[in-house]
Amino acid sequence: MLTHTRPIPGNLASCGIRTLAVHAGQHPDPGSGAIATPVVSTSSFAFDDFDAGAARFAGAEPGYLYSRFANPTVAVFERKMAALEGGDQAIAFSSGMAAICATLLAVLKAGDEVVYVGTLYGGTDGVMRQMLPRLGIRAVHASAVEDIPGCVNERTRAVYVETPSNPTLGICDLAKVAALTKPRGLISIADNTFATPVLTRPIGLGIDVVVHSATKYIGGHGDATGGVAVAGLSHANAIRKTGMKELGGCMSPHDAALFIRGLKTLPLRMAASCDNAQMIAEALRRHPAVAKVHYPGLPEHPGHDIAVRQMRRFGGILSLELAGGQPAARVFLDKLKLVTQAVSVGDTDSLACHPASTTHSAVDPAARLAGGVTPGLVRMSLGIEDGDDLQRDVIAALEDAS
Ligand SMILES: Cc1ncc(COP(=O)(O)O)c(C=O)c1O
Repeated sequence: MLTHTRPIPGNLASCGIRTLAVHAGQHPDPGSGAIATPVVSTSSFAFDDFDAGAARFAGAEPGYLYSRFANPTVAVFERKMAALEGGDQAIAFSSGMAAICATLLAVLKAGDEVVYVGTLYGGTDGVMRQMLPRLGIRAVHASAVEDIPGCVNERTRAVYVETPSNPTLGICDLAKVAALTKPRGLISIADNTFATPVLTRPIGLGIDVVVHSATKYIGGHGDATGGVAVAGLSHANAIRKTGMKELGGCMSPHDAALFIRGLKTLPLRMAASCDNAQMIAEALRRHPAVAKVHYPGLPEHPGHDIAVRQMRRFGGILSLELAGGQPAARVFLDKLKLVTQAVSVGDTDSLACHPASTTHSAVDPAARLAGGVTPGLVRMSLGIEDGDDLQRDVIAALEDAS
């Protein structure tokens, strides 16, 4: 049999994000020399004999057991994500919500409290307001990072933030979150889906656990659903036990192969999306049909100064408030031709949606409005198309919505 034993290339610790995205966590398959990670499509792994099975389950011998616990293809994706986020370990899940729920359930128990800050993705908001209380866990809302100390008591175990937040692009100061949580012994959790490690690395700013919907930029092509949590060893072990052994929300090896491929071009796709979002945000803010643009790359955005400090660029997602409210939002969305009307973000294709009637429709209406999710709000995820073409499409649709 051919054996290709080239080691994992060099010392990747000193490499840039594009090199890490391509090479981290993988090397050509030792058996075949295959450069693309083989999809190991198996549910279980053979033991040489009776004692080997027992030794593997006891942890006395290394080796794979069962793909819900660990799988070689999924492990490549996990190593790549851990390297990109700068964490000890990553744990891959079947969706972003599976990663978020497993993380929360790994660190919280009945009687505990969690503080969550600002506006969150509607699904996560539902977990905070509905699911956790059903389990005897109180979720306390803090409007801003500065309000965290006032929301903390002896039962508080964790603080959860999302930055930039979905859909109003709120920015949380992650270094400040770490400074407020670490001395109090609280676990900080940050959803880094919108920024990705290309723009922000929360662990380097002192955050304990990073969660992602991999469905978005990490996959990048809108063809797979997945999630991932990245953390230091002790939190990672707890999240893996809860998420894989108990809840069972594992990533399929077929999807892991798509996410590995997606990660290789993540920095390139992010650069193109950031260029397009900045260009469209500037065009929108000059248009009379637009009352407000939420984009951290605009100097008037309330989180701009923090974003300058903690993000390499400002991301590919923005939201706009139509001056004509929901009727204008409806016309604008229906008139877009190149931009597809759909939920999700982070695809190669530009997408737009109306959060109040879709992604955030299950959020309590008063809380939705207080969080800035108004009837006239439209969220746009700018893809990697040519910016001029996108701008023509957006401006033409706005003329009709005026
Ligand atoms: C910021 C954010 N976090 C988490 C999720 C949930 O991810 P998934 O749909 O992969 O479960 C989403 C989904 O839109 C999201 O936007």
